[in-house]
Amino acid sequence: MEEVSSLTKRLSMADSADFNVDDADVPALRDILARIAATGYSESAVSERLSLKDINDLQMRALPIYRTECLSARTSLDTAIDLFLLQGTIRVEELDGLFCRRDRDVMLRAKILSIDSFGSVRANVSLYPVRDHLVFSDHAWPQLFNAEYSTVPYDQVMFVGTDSRWLARATVRQPVRTALDLCTGSGIQALLAATHARRAVAVDINLRAVCCTKFNAKVSGFHNIEVVAGDLFEPIGNELFDLITANPPFVPSPVDGIRFRDGGRSGEDVQRRIVAGLPSHLASGGTAQLVTEFGERSGEPLTDRIRQWLGDAPMDIHVVRLRTHSAAAYAIGHATGDDPETFLKSVEAWATNLRTQGIVRVVSVLVAFQWSDPSLGSPWSRVDEALPPRRDAGAEIETVFAAERTAQDPRLQEKFQRCRLMRTGPITLLEGVVLGSELPPTCQATLMGQALSIDHRLNHLERDLLKFLDHQMEGPALLSVAQQASMSEEILFGTIRSLLGKGLIRLIDSGL
Ligand SMILES: C[S@@+](CC[C@H](N)C(=O)[O-])C[C@H]1O[C@@H](n2cnc3c(N)ncnc32)[C@H](O)[C@@H]1O
Repeated sequence: MEEVSSLTKRLSMADSADFNVDDADVPALRDILARIAATGYSESAVSERLSLKDINDLQMRALPIYRTECLSARTSLDTAIDLFLLQGTIRVEELDGLFCRRDRDVMLRAKILSIDSFGSVRANVSLYPVRDHLVFSDHAWPQLFNAEYSTVPYDQVMFVGTDSRWLARATVRQPVRTALDLCTGSGIQALLAATHARRAVAVDINLRAVCCTKFNAKVSGFHNIEVVAGDLFEPIGNELFDLITANPPFVPSPVDGIRFRDGGRSGEDVQRRIVAGLPSHLASGGTAQLVTEFGERSGEPLTDRIRQWLGDAPMDIHVVRLRTHSAAAYAIGHATGDDPETFLKSVEAWATNLRTQGIVRVVSVLVAFQWSDPSLGSPWSRVDEALPPRRDAGAEIETVFAAERTAQDPRLQEKFQRCRLMRTGPITLLEGVVLGSELPPTCQATLMGQALSIDHRLNHLERDLLKFLDHQMEGPALLSVAQQASMSEEILFGTIRSLLGKGLIRLIDSGL
């Protein structure tokens, strides 16, 4: 009932997009998307035009600067960026330079555009370039057009945000039979999955999001996406999926204000249930991936919490920490209020909630799960730290799982006899000492050229072996060098396993 009432409220508002399109208009809408794409409207071209390193660096509050400093030439691409991404208002004459009369009418009928009696045009939805696709969703800053919103409407469909792009970039893009996207919102993850899955299922509890995903699937010409309304796994029964993605609401919030954002007081209400549902829905050999935030508590490793949610399920867990926010910065960043007194009260409410939850900082993470291989021993959990990916990193996530398995292989010593060992690629090695102190030196290695550039702490044996491997080396030859240096096989293989797990070295079968 709540769904219907919030939807009704929204639909009754003038100029609000309802993500409905007459079937007869779908071919024209596809042409329109092609026309917009032809202006060069893509992640990289938009970033370049707005002088951003990455489209994820776009800040809506910098709109006037972008318009004056980056879009003044008013090329077709500038017009498209202003209208469809920056929530700009343009003159109808400028629109006519981009679209023919028929296209304009189709967009008006689909409520994508509104034109007022003075000939000013604005878009009622935004169009987000993601990888090779264009995805419609609600605006990133709805208050810009609706001063009466103190926050975004409860049924707002999540714009394509930083976390959406992080997950889109980190997803493993192997051809699969079935993919499931939970908390689909605009459907962005489901659409991308449908490019390499035979069938993709998208689930959201918000009916407006369901309409938005159906709309995107239709106008992008996807026939292999099923969009269903419901609570997480509830609408899909016992079906198993080869790929599961989710970008759930995760914010530990003192208010239940924004459905796509707020994950209850702890932030865990939805994500906990997603993780708990993975064992009954992830197919053997499949991968599940989440982008989320976790409230960190002192002395409690994140992976303990995740493993507890998984129950006894033997799954390997890989966490990449992308960004950390102190509790204070988080409270200030989420507080609202136009006047100082209201704002400070809001900061207090957010800070109190975090304190009550025992949260000392909030960390943005990518989490991946795969079923563990029972022949390799206990399931592992691993936490890495990296800068957020600026390009596709799915293959690197897969490599982490493969590397850990190679490192754990009980037959490693036997295989070693017929393998060569080499560094995986160019590696940056940073060594640090504190002069005049007894503190042991530290060493950090980073494999270069990666989308997820993970920093690995090395002990001195790992560092020495990595330095030593300037050339590929046969396993037996390395064994004899170690023997000459009086290094035990146990220590040598411990070091090799550790470097293999970190993905800094690899084994090649030398065919011996
Ligand atoms: C952060 S948005 C993610 C949107 C999109 N997947 C993306 O990556 O941009 C979270 C979405 O979860 C949906 N949601 C919240 N609770 C849910 C639940 N219990 N079951 C299914 N969807 C839910 C919200 O409606 C919202 O669309």
